Amino acid sequence: MTNAPQQIANEIARVGYCILPNAMPGDLCNLLMQSARTTTERQYRQAGVGRADQHQQNESIRSDEIDWIDDRSAAGEAWLDWCSELQLALNQRLFLGLFSFESHFAHYAPGRFYGRHVDAFKGRTNRVLSLVTYLNEDWNPGDGGELVLYQNDEDSTGLRVIPEAGTVVLFLSDEFPHEVLPAKADRYSIAGWFRVNTSSGRSIDPPR
Ligand code: OGA
Ligand code: MN
Repeated sequence: MTNAPQQIANEIARVGYCILPNAMPGDLCNLLMQSARTTTERQYRQAGVGRADQHQQNESIRSDEIDWIDDRSAAGEAWLDWCSELQLALNQRLFLGLFSFESHFAHYAPGRFYGRHVDAFKGRTNRVLSLVTYLNEDWNPGDGGELVLYQNDEDSTGLRVIPEAGTVVLFLSDEFPHEVLPAKADRYSIAGWFRVNTSSGRSIDPPR
């Protein structure tokens, strides 16, 4: 990692999020972008909202398409390795007890967006830390598709993040409402979540 894990951990402990330009190695970024665009390798599906029994497709909230990542492709394997190093580094410094990680590619075709939402509801999920990274090189100012990260429910200004290759954003999953503004060009990103283990008794908490 170009940014010292210690610095990242400090920022998360201090304000709950961090925005890191150029944090992803260029070769990993290229590999992921190639994979994201290879339609024989990826099978995107219309994204849904909510989990399991509450899962529904609601294009008024989000209209991107996604493909979950596993280690069966070289790109997926390299990505998961990188994230597990980060997980280890954060656990060593923050004692978050991050236990597993799930992530998907997302493709926002022109006009697609993801309205304001939180990734987790307090006390109802084991998603602890959200991670987003971007794969488009040379994203133009007019291409839209910014991530807007709000400080809390009352914040209506937020921080705008350009979805430019190499940028990594981390934030506590249940604290920061955020949205993806409509993209005007094909926008490729990865969204992921570090989870804690909530297994108890005989019920095993699955990785996804
Ligand atoms: C998500 C999400 C942000 C982005 O998938 O939950 O908020 O910038 N993505 O792609
Ligand atoms: Mn989100």
